[in-house]
Amino acid sequence: MTDLPPGSSDQISSAIPMIGAGIRRVESTPKVTGQARYAYELDASTLGAPANPLVGVMVLSTIARGRITATLTATARGMPGVHLVLTSDNAPPQAPWGPLHAKDRFARAQPVLRGPDVHYYGEPVALVVADTFEQARAAAMAVDVRYDSAPHAVVLDPSTATEPEFLNGFKPAHTDYGDFDAAFARSAVRVDTVYETPHQNHAQMEPHATTAMWHKDGLILHTSAQNLVSIQLGIAATLQISPHHVRVLSPYVGGGFGGKLPYFADAILAALAARMLGTPVKVGMTRTQMFSATTHRTATRQTVRIGADRTGRLCAICHDALSHCASFDNFVEDTTTITRGLYRADAIRTDAHLNHLDLPRSDSMRSPGDAVGMVGLECAMDELAHELGMDPLELRLLNDTPTDLTANRPFSSRHLRQCLKEGARRFKWTARNPRPGQVREGEWLMGMGMACAMRYNLLKPCQALAHIDARANLTVQLAMTDPGTGTQTILTQIAAGTMGLPLTQVRVEMGDTTYPPAPGSGGSFGAESAGSAVLRACENLRTLLLEASIRDEHSPLHGQPMEAIQLDAGSLHAGGRHESLSSFLERVFPHGMQAHGEITADPNSLKWSQASFGAHFSEVAVNAITGEVRVRRMLGVFACGRILNSRTARSQLLGGMIWGISNALHEENTPDPRTGQFTAHDLANYHIATHADMPDMEVVMIAEDEPVSNPLHIKGLGEVGICGAAAAIGNAVFNATGIRVRNFPITIDRLLPHLPEMPA
Ligand code: MOS
Repeated sequence: MTDLPPGSSDQISSAIPMIGAGIRRVESTPKVTGQARYAYELDASTLGAPANPLVGVMVLSTIARGRITATLTATARGMPGVHLVLTSDNAPPQAPWGPLHAKDRFARAQPVLRGPDVHYYGEPVALVVADTFEQARAAAMAVDVRYDSAPHAVVLDPSTATEPEFLNGFKPAHTDYGDFDAAFARSAVRVDTVYETPHQNHAQMEPHATTAMWHKDGLILHTSAQNLVSIQLGIAATLQISPHHVRVLSPYVGGGFGGKLPYFADAILAALAARMLGTPVKVGMTRTQMFSATTHRTATRQTVRIGADRTGRLCAICHDALSHCASFDNFVEDTTTITRGLYRADAIRTDAHLNHLDLPRSDSMRSPGDAVGMVGLECAMDELAHELGMDPLELRLLNDTPTDLTANRPFSSRHLRQCLKEGARRFKWTARNPRPGQVREGEWLMGMGMACAMRYNLLKPCQALAHIDARANLTVQLAMTDPGTGTQTILTQIAAGTMGLPLTQVRVEMGDTTYPPAPGSGGSFGAESAGSAVLRACENLRTLLLEASIRDEHSPLHGQPMEAIQLDAGSLHAGGRHESLSSFLERVFPHGMQAHGEITADPNSLKWSQASFGAHFSEVAVNAITGEVRVRRMLGVFACGRILNSRTARSQLLGGMIWGISNALHEENTPDPRTGQFTAHDLANYHIATHADMPDMEVVMIAEDEPVSNPLHIKGLGEVGICGAAAAIGNAVFNATGIRVRNFPITIDRLLPHLPEMPA
């Protein structure tokens, strides 16, 4: 193991009390009692506005590609309660879309109703604003849009694919470690296989919604967003005003999962209509509208080739992934990221291909890239284990690596082996019959499968402000969001622990761009980025307090050495003497005091590859007559550095595993090649795992300390739970039936023709 950088272990943070405790969410009471107001629920009193917002309803295109020849609005404009019908004929000027290659794609200008061109089925083409939702909806149905349609392409097609230069996050699209062709050619055992994953749609509990109002200082936009600062920049760019004149608020977010990293037409349309009408306007999306007017996870077609020697040592891995992005966009799903660093092999190659399709934009969905890429990689590894006649768990252990070969860096912390072994022990993996299709329980075929989990770690720049008043009430502010993950709770724990205060004396205020900038929630970077900034702000405040108490002649701590002083239970202590924080503050800082904190990734820390790891185990029962698949048990064991809150961490990991079941067995959207429309556009047709699909599920977090990434010694865990989860189920289905379904999800129609005959 490479030496760790000096000073990487932070004395203060490693001793923060309350870190790890599974305390319940600090905002749970307002949420469950309905006191928390979401973006669509604001009225005149909560907005501080003279009137309740008017209501906008979007009209969506009914062709996938072509031109609008006319939009007839006279009928709609004459309907009761209607104030405005906005189309490309009367939409105010906005900046052009982009720039396409922006460093921050969420800060790009996104004009709406930008002209006659239609880019996908379900693109917003008009907005109707009325007094009530019902009036606006009725009038929206009366808007008559005439089209001249053009041929569209909505299906992945390798023959027309191009080779992109970069993947999501500006990762190179093509990587090479060693000589794949030579290493594959000399491999004794080879797998050469193609996996397909379908388009998948977001369905956050809270649909996308925005309430916009203008005042003398500009625009106030209440919206449901994961990332406020980028959206502030994007909206300002679109409207061609200064970002200082755009305030974005998102104190409560009912789920994000990557689908609320971008902003959408609801935000721009609400802002435009509110400005035109001089009164607040809100625009929400229906569940059906979300299926086209927001982003989705692209379908992928992945060619995976793996070669090994007879003992199972990997010689060569090649992963080539085709995905789509919208005709006007440049998002490339980073499907092959994990393949670059998960295993030791003599050669590792990754490639990418892209189709520009006349579909809605594809973009992030929980663990973009890895959630689908690990289906291809980890199912292909299972195929290889079967070809070798080797236990798939042993194959992983044999090819574990302390070094990220493609990146040519050691891992800062990597406890994959421990996850695999602990999981195998708890799951009773040795009870698995390696021969597929052998274990029966009546008409059910039983099988067990496993897969690795991995997700790279990322720290983004973040700032925070900590203020303590004379009564020792601490307020921390930052433009962070909590899309239901528990961020507000862990930040409260970090602040309280660092300042030696009870949780009841700490308030973390978030969701407002007037607070110090934060990267928002996404890519599993939220906890460490925002958490480290809050830690720094509180450490700085604590230092100021201690220094002042040492200087203060009336303080019982006067003249004490700094190291001797403790801040604990709301008091300053040293050498048996103490003073309560509030009495000290009242005397010395009657107006309170504050400190700023900031974090950026330590360049030294980037000498290490940083990632969270895990192992999934699943047991399935497949009905030999009907092809129905039931997951019986699922276990995930994870190593994600130190855990900030055992309850919210478990929920994140469990949620990922549940989504993995959904990916394996249920979720799929298919564009209709005739119309270009996604065939599923509601939750009746878009199937997701429900409570009745949930088996006995267990999450285990093993003790780990991340030494280099951040002062909290944590790693991202929001997404690693889904990585590999679907593969573990696919591999269990193979073990149960001997049927290798390579076209996800594993639905009944894909199993039924291949099921073995039942003995009489
Ligand atoms: Mo995540 S899919 O980057 O919110």
